[in-house]
Amino acid sequence: MRSVVYPGTFDPITNGHIDLVLRAARLFDRVVVAVATDTGKQPLFSIEERVALVREATGHLPNVESIAFQGLLVNFVRELGVNVIIRGLRAVSDFEYEFQLASMNRHMAPDIETIFLTPAEQYAFISSSLVREIARLHGDISTFVPAEVQAALRERFG
Ligand code: COA
Repeated sequence: MRSVVYPGTFDPITNGHIDLVLRAARLFDRVVVAVATDTGKQPLFSIEERVALVREATGHLPNVESIAFQGLLVNFVRELGVNVIIRGLRAVSDFEYEFQLASMNRHMAPDIETIFLTPAEQYAFISSSLVREIARLHGDISTFVPAEVQAALRERFG
C-alpha cells in the first residue's frame, strides 16, 4: 500500500488544500493530512479545531485521514512507516521556501522523498492568512473555503 503524508498548518484548511488532497488521493492508497503543532505561527484555531475541520472537509474521501503531530515532520513520517511527503506549489514564490524545507528534510532523513503537486489555477492565489483576514473583516469567503470552515470563521469573528 502506497501512503503519503501531506503536512501543513491548515489554519484553516482551504479549497486549495482540498484540491491537493483530492489529487494525492488519486495517486496514493492512503493520504495522511498531518496538521502541525510546531510551525512558528500563532494559529487562529487550536490544533484540535484544525484537525476537526480537516476531517469534516475530507470526510467524503475514504482513503484520507487527518492526524495532529508534534515535533519534527520527518520523525512523524518515519513513525507512520511512510517515505513520501507531498507539498503544494502554487506559484514561483512558493518555490524557495519549499526547496529549503524539502532540502532540510532530506538532509535529516535521506530516505524520505518530497514530491510537489500544483493546485488548479483557480486556487493558486488562496492562502489561509488572507482567508482569515477577509473573514475578520466580514468579507465573502464562500469560494475559498468549504462550508464548515466558513461556519467556523463566522462563529469566530461574529
Ligand atoms: N492551497 C491554498 N493555500 C495553500 C496551499 C494550497 N494548495 N498550499 C499552501 N497554502 C498556503 C497556506 O494556506 C499557508 O498560507 P498562510 O501562510 O498565509 O497561512 C501557506 O501556504 C503555507 O502553509 P502550509 O502549506 O500550511 O505550510 P506551512 O508553511 O504553514 O507548514 C510545515 C510547514 C508544517 C510543513 C513545517 O512547518 C513543518 O514541517 N513543521 C514541523 C516541524 C519541522 O519539522 N520543522 C522543520 C522543517 S525543515
